[in-house]
Amino acid sequence: MILQSVSFLILGLLRFAVDASQLDDILIQGNDALMEGNNQQAVLLYRKGIEEMKRQKGVSLLTTISLYTNLATALSSEGDNEAAALSYQQALTAYEDQNDSVSDIETKEEAKEIASQSSFFLGMVYQDLSQPKEAIEAYAVTHDRFDPNHWASYANKGSVFHDNFSNHEKALEAYNQAYTLLVGGHATEPPSEPRYILSQLQYRIGLCLSAREDRRCALQNEDGTTEAADCQEQAAHAFSLALQYDPSNVSAKHMLASLTADATMKRASNTYVKSLFDDYAVNFEHSLVKDLGYTGYELLRKGFDRAMLNVGETKPMQLVIDAGCGTGLVGEQFRNISTVLVGVDLSAAILEQAQHTRPGLYDDTRVGDVIATFDEFANQISLIIAGDSYIYFGDLLPLKRRSIG
Ligand SMILES: *[C@@H]1O[C@H](CO)[C@@H](O)[C@H](O)[C@H]1NC(C)=O
Ligand SMILES: *[C@@H]1O[C@H](CO)[C@@H](O)[C@H](O)[C@H]1NC(C)=O
Ligand SMILES: *[C@@H]1O[C@H](CO)[C@@H](O)[C@H](O)[C@H]1NC(C)=O
Ligand SMILES: *[C@@H]1O[C@H](CO)[C@@H](O)[C@H](O)[C@H]1NC(C)=O
Repeated sequence: MILQSVSFLILGLLRFAVDASQLDDILIQGNDALMEGNNQQAVLLYRKGIEEMKRQKGVSLLTTISLYTNLATALSSEGDNEAAALSYQQALTAYEDQNDSVSDIETKEEAKEIASQSSFFLGMVYQDLSQPKEAIEAYAVTHDRFDPNHWASYANKGSVFHDNFSNHEKALEAYNQAYTLLVGGHATEPPSEPRYILSQLQYRIGLCLSAREDRRCALQNEDGTTEAADCQEQAAHAFSLALQYDPSNVSAKHMLASLTADATMKRASNTYVKSLFDDYAVNFEHSLVKDLGYTGYELLRKGFDRAMLNVGETKPMQLVIDAGCGTGLVGEQFRNISTVLVGVDLSAAILEQAQHTRPGLYDDTRVGDVIATFDEFANQISLIIAGDSYIYFGDLLPLKRRSIG
């Protein structure tokens, strides 16, 4: 299971307005008990509230589903997962029976949020109960019916397909959905420290891809068509991303090494790299720098300065090629020592983004393979800078031969 945190649920439920009825008093007392970790007391209070609710007529939907949902959370904390599952289901049934009668938009949204959490936690309870099929259904309800941005339900659904059914296709699809939501910045309640989750997702994506024996994977193009791609290449790429997010993960290091040692794998195909970054062009820098705390571009310049200090050479470089330049994070660091700075990238979308974010940074840009640019400027190149792009080349030898000239 990728995410497991049952205890956060109640915090979101304290927001709604209290009309000071006796029932809401009971609910609030129950929430207080639950937050203090007094689960047994909370269970008693919520049960009392539910009895009271059944006697009264016209109890609000929010109060009803909050009682059932919080009772379920208290029960699950007590270790009674069977009763917890039942109570989450009752919350969901109450939602389906009554949501159409709620007219206030805000209340409607809030009820939907609680229902979404209920079905997500129901999925986790089913996992604990060793009912993987039901867990998958509950996770699917969470993102299909309540919240399409619920990344955690995609992630956990993927892990059940993966761990309990060895269904790599379905797992892959779900992991990718979770990853895309997190990187795209639209995820509901993203983790405060996303690197670990992103690494875990890519690691699992790599496992699913490398498990395919026929090595034929489909790659989705922008226009919706698909083309064939080598699964091992894609798996290697996934493991290298996992490593970037969590450089200490020796399992990912090992998987990457064993895949790239495979002599039949040359380098990630250009189409693959291009489509990857076309998709992420707009959010690329945001996710890399802001969300992930990436500082590799600064380190690269610092390392360069240190190396040059030893060599004793400080004069500007005549022609500098920024290979796989992306949005210009690295190029910017080298602008002040470059007379002419040329950016090369496979993705036209990301070059547009570079022009938008850092107008005038590059004297010239090329869309396409770096090898073609090395050939074009043969023997004139003073310096090649490459941020994170060399990881996309399985075999660096042809590249070195060209650039050294
Ligand atoms: C009420 O919930 C049901 C079940 O989730 C859904 O099909 C329906 O669209 C919802 N109605 C409104 C108005 O949200
Ligand atoms: C699902 O897989 C996980 C990880 O292998 C395992 O711990 C769990 O017991 C499995 N559950 C079922 C129901 O098989
Ligand atoms: C590497 O990451 C994977 C996925 O998050 C995890 O299962 C594994 O335990 C990690 N291995 C190490 C050695 O950190
Ligand atoms: C050149 O730019 C780098 C990166 O912005 C900066 O660290 C360095 O101090 C600059 N050098 C000069 C001489 O302006």
